[in-house]
Amino acid sequence: MFEGENVRLRSIELTDLDAIMENWNNLKLRRFLHEPRPFSRVEEEEWIRSTWRRRKAGTDFQFAIEHKETKEFLGTAGLFSLNQVARSIELGIAIHAEKNWGKGYGTDTMKVLLEFGFNYLNLNSVRLRVNDFNVRGIKTYKKVGFTEVGKLRQANFVEGKYNDMIFMDILREEWEKMKQK
Ligand SMILES: CC(C)(COP(=O)(O)OP(=O)(O)OC[C@H]1O[C@@H](n2cnc3c(N)ncnc32)[C@H](O)[C@@H]1OP(=O)(O)O)[C@@H](O)C(=O)NCCC(=O)NCCS
Repeated sequence: MFEGENVRLRSIELTDLDAIMENWNNLKLRRFLHEPRPFSRVEEEEWIRSTWRRRKAGTDFQFAIEHKETKEFLGTAGLFSLNQVARSIELGIAIHAEKNWGKGYGTDTMKVLLEFGFNYLNLNSVRLRVNDFNVRGIKTYKKVGFTEVGKLRQANFVEGKYNDMIFMDILREEWEKMKQK
């Protein structure tokens, strides 16, 4: 299992379903994700099972984020869509409950995921997509070394408005430099 200062990244289990369903369909959270429609408990159960299959196949690595001491379920995060030739992958993260935003768990989790990606999967590049209005997200990603590399204009439609989808990435060499600081 992979641990940061306060978080532990572990396999997502069916016993996490109750905690997932608590906030997963809350629009306060969903507005930041790229799919605002609600998900049923059965869909989530299937998704959890699919994370096991895809991890075994070696293409996707999804984790539950839990608090190291209290074991509270904080959310999910992972690396997915591995390109084995280019050694590149996409990153996604969601701290589910609003009460847990801004407490450093996202930054902590991102650092663990990058360590896992570069030091255990031997990746060269990690990318992500983020809505332009997700100021907290963008700030967090920059803090751990991501750079904005482009955007798709008006690619999303949330709360009655188009917004741009920002692309960010980090290369292995940049991550190594960050770690030396
Ligand atoms: C985005 C997310 C992963 C960030 O994790 P987090 O634990 O909330 O963030 P952290 O506490 O580690 O760091 C947040 C940083 O943004 C700043 N911040 C917090 N709220 C902010 C706000 N409303 N506006 C601007 N900056 C904000 C904090 O001050 C902190 O920076 P600092 O350490 O320099 O002070 C988390 O908030 C989350 O999952 N949100 C909902 C779903 C989501 O947006 N997922 C990502 C989709 S791309």
